[in-house]
Amino acid sequence: ETDPAKIMKQQVGVAAAARVQSGSIVGLGTGSTTAYAIQALGDRLKSGDLKDIKGVPTSFQAIVLARRYGIPLVTLDEIDHIDVAIDGADEVDPHKNLIKGGGAAHTQEKIVDSLANQFIVVVDSGKLVEHLGSTFLLPVEVIPMAVTPVMRAIVKLGGKPELRMGIKKAGPVVTDQGNLVIDVKFDRIDNPADLEKTLNNIPGVLENGLFVGVTDLVLVGEIKDGQPSIR
Ligand code: A5P
Repeated sequence: ETDPAKIMKQQVGVAAAARVQSGSIVGLGTGSTTAYAIQALGDRLKSGDLKDIKGVPTSFQAIVLARRYGIPLVTLDEIDHIDVAIDGADEVDPHKNLIKGGGAAHTQEKIVDSLANQFIVVVDSGKLVEHLGSTFLLPVEVIPMAVTPVMRAIVKLGGKPELRMGIKKAGPVVTDQGNLVIDVKFDRIDNPADLEKTLNNIPGVLENGLFVGVTDLVLVGEIKDGQPSIR
């Protein structure tokens, strides 16, 4: 790998994977940064440095990667705790609150990441913001038959909603659960905890991408003088 941005994502992924101990149950997040962590966990298993871990996937992508790198998977019905979860984010504020769901996986991610005794976020420094919502639209997963009334309710809350469309697919993006995603522009998210609850209270909304008070540790990758590093 020669692209400094990818090397940096790889470094934070590897750093997060290095924190996992043998015998752990590990939440496996979604996205390009977490993908490196899943690969690094597989490398540690293969070398014998790490033994007897089980992965709890947050998406179809995480299932595919875990299988590729030899990480045994379990469902939430088979376990009574998660030791550590590793996941990416689209925005991180100074209180370690997040916007997630750029990969349309935030519903399963919130379930798994919230259950973990330790939740480690892996991002590049471009994801750090003063206020959530300043660079990224807020993803909201909606049951298909409720899309129109949910959009109207979001407009009443002061948001500008748009239905997420596929890039290499005709029509809207469909989540791993068979639902749709509305991306919402809010001029300013002053109280993420309140907004998270208000949005989830609209009938037809399954889950939104605000993660408040869930994160324990943020590993930030950056490029300084052309060199990738972690802080
Ligand atoms: C998935 O729905 C998101 O929450 C991802 O975790 C987020 O988009 C981070 O992805 P990258 O690491 O690819 O930026």
